[in-house]
Amino acid sequence: MLYYVISLLSQIYVDGPILQAVQDAHLYPDSKYFVDMALKVDPVTTLKNFYELGDKVRKRENLQKFIEAHFDPPGSELIESYPEDWVPFPASFLKIDDYHLRRWALHLHRIWRDLCRRVKEDVRDHQELYSLLYVPHPFVIPGGRFREFYYWDSYWILKGLLFSEMFETAKGMIRNLAYMVDHHGFVPNGGRVYYLIRSQPPLLTPMVYEYYLATGDLEFVQEVLPLLEKEYEFWETQRSSPFLDPETKKEKFPYFQYRVLMKTPRPESYREDMELVRHLDTEDERHLMWSNVASAAETGWDFSTRWFAQSGPSMHDMKSIRTTSIVPVDLNAFICVNARILGSFYEITGRPDKVAAYQRRYEHAKTEMKELHWNETDGIWYDYDLEYKTHSNTYYVSNASPLYAKCYDDEDDVTPRKVYAYLEREGVLSFTKGLPTSLAMGSEQQWDKENAWPPMVHMVIEGFRTTGDPFLMKAAENMATQWLTLSYRSFIQTHSMFEKYNVSSKTEECSAGSGGEYEVQTGFGWTNGVILDLLDKYGDKMHSTASKSVPWLFLAVLMTLLRLL
Ligand SMILES: *[C@@H]1O[C@H](CO)[C@@H](O)[C@H](O)[C@H]1NC(C)=O
Repeated sequence: MLYYVISLLSQIYVDGPILQAVQDAHLYPDSKYFVDMALKVDPVTTLKNFYELGDKVRKRENLQKFIEAHFDPPGSELIESYPEDWVPFPASFLKIDDYHLRRWALHLHRIWRDLCRRVKEDVRDHQELYSLLYVPHPFVIPGGRFREFYYWDSYWILKGLLFSEMFETAKGMIRNLAYMVDHHGFVPNGGRVYYLIRSQPPLLTPMVYEYYLATGDLEFVQEVLPLLEKEYEFWETQRSSPFLDPETKKEKFPYFQYRVLMKTPRPESYREDMELVRHLDTEDERHLMWSNVASAAETGWDFSTRWFAQSGPSMHDMKSIRTTSIVPVDLNAFICVNARILGSFYEITGRPDKVAAYQRRYEHAKTEMKELHWNETDGIWYDYDLEYKTHSNTYYVSNASPLYAKCYDDEDDVTPRKVYAYLEREGVLSFTKGLPTSLAMGSEQQWDKENAWPPMVHMVIEGFRTTGDPFLMKAAENMATQWLTLSYRSFIQTHSMFEKYNVSSKTEECSAGSGGEYEVQTGFGWTNGVILDLLDKYGDKMHSTASKSVPWLFLAVLMTLLRLL
């Protein structure tokens, strides 16, 4: 039944004559606007009425009239929801020493109320009228143009909710994602019918793990465990391939990729994707391009030079996009941490048969990490390039993600030091505001250069913080202090929290990041989640006044010295 409804909706929102007409006519400035509109009548009637108009829809006014008669403006199917477990002052915030930072935390804590939504019951009863996918529990959205739930954003939102002691909201968000796995076989990129074509970095199992650590709610782990396993199997069957031993041609281990087959433009970025293929002559070439674009959207890094040619005349050009030739280091790190957590969940719920199976997967993932990604000369993991059968030895902040995932031997205490030395050598630690995403400074893309993304910065901090190595733990603390200082100053200046920040040392002010397909968004779910989690970890060590006066003092001394010279 659901499958039938989804396939009907796809003829409106994913592919088909109405979508094409609306997007080609540029009826709305943002391609995402139309695909978020709800239907007034069922899809079959809507299509029939559209066909009956015939050539008349070529005229813009007629098309506009048709859309207004058959669709409602976006947003009405999501209603603001007051989180029942919200309290004005969570006791956990007492550990934040500094008064200004505590006030800031309380402000971010209040924003959860503005970002909390639930899906109208009418969507459950009449899914055939909505591009929004029904989920049963309230959830926190990222903000801005992102009106629905997003998959990997939810991980950092959840971290923040846990510090905010909003355990019920956190649990509901996990239940929603598990509901997706139950009904659709995997977690889509976001809560819309047009996102059912692709997933996003698999962090559902780590979310359950974080929730379990915070609450000890083993019953809940038991409840969702079969669906976590089902999601793992989706990645295993749909997104992995065997890596063959070059000599014996036997499988050594599986590797995982973001891989989406797509014969149409992304509906929510329709015009951008049409523009991209204008120079291509054949249908096959266009399909290949769109598949690589959709696969890049699945990585969460849409877009980045990471997925483009790394040399030659089309270097760093979006037209050279080749996502499916890359074996991404971060995805394989996430698979590694998934296998490890699933193993321990089965351990504590008493299923020794399953423990062994996931232990084996975890060992495979560690071998994959060592053989395909680790470069001993450079002391870092890299993406692996299937076409050239070599590492793409370029700095991207994702290179450090296996540290967060602990995808190396437990007794190995030299690897984290090597990773630190690598970051130092690449010069990225001398960015005093936060870690840049890449060093591709000419790039127009948003997952590049001096744009720093809260989740990536958080992952590197967590990677070092949990090593148990005092030197690296101190380094993590410094990075966290830097990040909190940047975000706090930017907040004081702009009263906004951005989805990404500019960490260039060229600008004095603390500004939002730039580039990409849309304007920088505020709100913002994962930004606030990261800040709250860092205040949880470092709130007893941080002081806003100290962090503000130190650079000024330093500058004053420097100016005096310069004058003396
Ligand atoms: C490791 O990195 C070095 C230096 O960047 C490079 O020359 C070498 O080919 C890399 N090794 C592998 C196995 O790709």
